[in-house]
Amino acid sequence: MTPDALPPAERVKISFEPDGGQPREVRVPAGVTLFDAASWNGIAVDSTCGGHGTCRKCRVRVVDGEVPVSRLDPRAFGLDELRLGWRLACMAPVRGDVRVEVPPLVTRPKAATVGVGRQVILRPAVQKRYVELTEATLADQRTDLERLLAALDDLEVRADLRALRNLPGALRQSDFRVTAVVVDDVLVDVEPGDTSARRFGIAFDLGTTTVAATLLDLATGTPAAVTSMLNPQQPFGGDVITRISATMLDPDALGRLTALAHSCLDQLASEVCTAGAVEPHEVYEIALAGNATMTHIALGIDPEPLGVAPFVMTSRSFDGLLAADLGVTVNPGARAYLFPALGAYVGGDIVAGALASGMDRDKRIRLFVDVGTNCEIVLADGDRILATAAPAGPAFEGAQIRCGMRAAPGAIEGVKISDDDVALQVIGDVGPVGLCGSGLVDAVAALVQVGLLDASGRLMAADVAAVTAPGLAGRLRQVGEERVFVLHERGDDPADAVYISQRDVRELQFAKAAIATGWRLLAAEMGIDPADVQQVLLAGSFGSYLSPASAVRIGLVPGVSVLRIVSAGNVAGEGAKMALLSVRERAAAHALLEEVRYVELSDRPDFNDRFIDQLAFPS
Ligand code: FES
Repeated sequence: MTPDALPPAERVKISFEPDGGQPREVRVPAGVTLFDAASWNGIAVDSTCGGHGTCRKCRVRVVDGEVPVSRLDPRAFGLDELRLGWRLACMAPVRGDVRVEVPPLVTRPKAATVGVGRQVILRPAVQKRYVELTEATLADQRTDLERLLAALDDLEVRADLRALRNLPGALRQSDFRVTAVVVDDVLVDVEPGDTSARRFGIAFDLGTTTVAATLLDLATGTPAAVTSMLNPQQPFGGDVITRISATMLDPDALGRLTALAHSCLDQLASEVCTAGAVEPHEVYEIALAGNATMTHIALGIDPEPLGVAPFVMTSRSFDGLLAADLGVTVNPGARAYLFPALGAYVGGDIVAGALASGMDRDKRIRLFVDVGTNCEIVLADGDRILATAAPAGPAFEGAQIRCGMRAAPGAIEGVKISDDDVALQVIGDVGPVGLCGSGLVDAVAALVQVGLLDASGRLMAADVAAVTAPGLAGRLRQVGEERVFVLHERGDDPADAVYISQRDVRELQFAKAAIATGWRLLAAEMGIDPADVQQVLLAGSFGSYLSPASAVRIGLVPGVSVLRIVSAGNVAGEGAKMALLSVRERAAAHALLEEVRYVELSDRPDFNDRFIDQLAFPS
């Protein structure tokens, strides 16, 4: 936080100190529980009830900062413990910066909490079996494989060539005591000795802008390490359309984009393995959730048909893949699970997100909005699930915004404007350098609120503001031909200031109008009034950090009570974790393909009129 900045307290900083692990500092929207914040950021907190307040296992100690005692805390802790800061993490919404000690896990979980409070019974596709075999003799000349399969007679498996290559050496190195590694029905490796306690997988969220990886301990369902990086394909274009165009214009572009996807996934895999103290050969499966374009490109499949009408995918799902097919160098026999897609613009990432947020298992009317360059929208009412995609463009990522930047140190992520002052929340301990997506949304919402931006999105002239908002009029300036509102001065030159320009406002209007048109059309299709939505889930690496109040004020989401708007985290990545932890959840993801009806926006005759209606800010 900069010294002069006033904290709007929309986002809070949590320092987690896991017992025996590396401390981690994370930022989450105010009101998120310690349990969710830990879960989103790959920090293991004990639980057997999935965050529902019944198991009393999610004990953490708040050592700095205030977290009020919840109604359930006195049932779990004595008075002294409460005074020492002990709280149930799932009952502890955070409203200010805190430091929290996380004790080690005491239970060996049979289930893991993933996604939006989803509890997943552990049934990973990766299994390990330690067996002690009798050595071959002249009287018993069964093959090595026959010997091994006889000991695994409850499993129907076929052997991968890579496992056969390791089999003779592993048997003879360890007196015929080996661990068989099976993924689904394939024997993928044979390891000397008993390694059954160690089996890992990596869940990837392959986003157009950001790629994230979580290393999961498949025996316990707990995350071992999390990391992310910008998608290195950015130079080919900020969104999927420009990347598809790149492959149409240059015959070498697809190869280069595929190579970039592979090196990115491989680098993240290597980073999480190092951070989690796991050998890459102990990773036996990866799961990946990505939109159709990212998935096609990562597999080296021409994405051109996705970019031109009638927008057709090469395949809805891709089975029988190895991690090596995606350039990920882990165990050579490691398999790869890719989420199936619903349509060219509602890809595996949205299926993963719908799975993680339980859109198929809730009776309420729920709207799910994964805010990003290509914004995915799902509306469900307990019986029907409708989905669509809205091309929101890169404004939310801070791209094409004059002072835009990604959510990195120096980015203004929160803005509040009063009659005569501007309060900024800045990432990191540095001065404001630029404006990231959540800061942009906050700034526009605040300018609308104080009347410096009218409903059509026009910034007020300085001379008019001098009468109506004299405390702020000095911040309305000209930079070149453009009217701007200065958020933070840097030196005397207005061009060096951090500001929001008239064009930035227009960019945001186009983005929010595309999204609002999407959910309004889905509501019309379902025959409901948007005001009837009982829960709005804001998801994605950007959406989760949006202020619900600002999202309502600019009309990005329906005008429901902010209490009904929930930050859902990176649900695509959470879905990928669920797929690694449970073959049942994979089946549920495939069932979603049958349940969800995709609504194409581009051929709707009323799309343009509705889009224009949504450009204005609600008055
Ligand atoms: S997770 Fe079970 S009580 Fe909190």
